[in-house]
Amino acid sequence: MALQLGDEAPDFTAQTTQGEIHFHDWLGGSWAVLFSHPKDFTPVCTTELGYTAKLKDKFADRGVKVIGLSVDAVGDHEKWSDDIEATQGTRPDFPVIADDNRKVADLYGMIHPNASDTLTVRSVFIIDPAKKIRTTITYPASTGRNFDEILRVIDSLQLTDKHKVATPVNWQQGDDVIIVPALSNEEAAKLFPDGWDEQRPYLRVVKQP
Ligand code: BEZ
Repeated sequence: MALQLGDEAPDFTAQTTQGEIHFHDWLGGSWAVLFSHPKDFTPVCTTELGYTAKLKDKFADRGVKVIGLSVDAVGDHEKWSDDIEATQGTRPDFPVIADDNRKVADLYGMIHPNASDTLTVRSVFIIDPAKKIRTTITYPASTGRNFDEILRVIDSLQLTDKHKVATPVNWQQGDDVIIVPALSNEEAAKLFPDGWDEQRPYLRVVKQP
């Protein structure tokens, strides 16, 4: 069965552009984004990895480690990084898993045989400090992902964990948020002493903490 939200991120050992990693050790107690791209030396992937490298400080600000994956060897990842640097202006400085035996791709269900027998789809797993999968996203090979959206989801998850608020449609940093339904009014009053805008008993809007 496909990995689901709340499942523990499966552990593995793999070769990467930064040496062998044991995934759970590498995660430590950090948030992480594990993402697959279909193939080295392909155009959309080139733009994605260059842009992700540009977001280094934004991931670090949020305490998030990033790791990529494709079914290519370390040597290819390294040669391709030269191209990424030359064309996108940034070199991936996060590890990229060399999954040429598809071990990790199979473990995480990143190969969708009806799309391609051999290449991974564009999978994203956001993993929390307890090693639980908190978000899965799947895009087709022909559509580059929006990595700003991945940051936005991380911001939302971290707000929920810290402040017991959820984020409404199209929420962006600084917009109003919603008190999670699981919190009673009595509990909410302790966390939000300035009160909230109760548009419905289930729709309690507050300033972003
Ligand atoms: C790309 O990265 O451009 C790509 C990779 C595999 C299939 C289609 C596009």
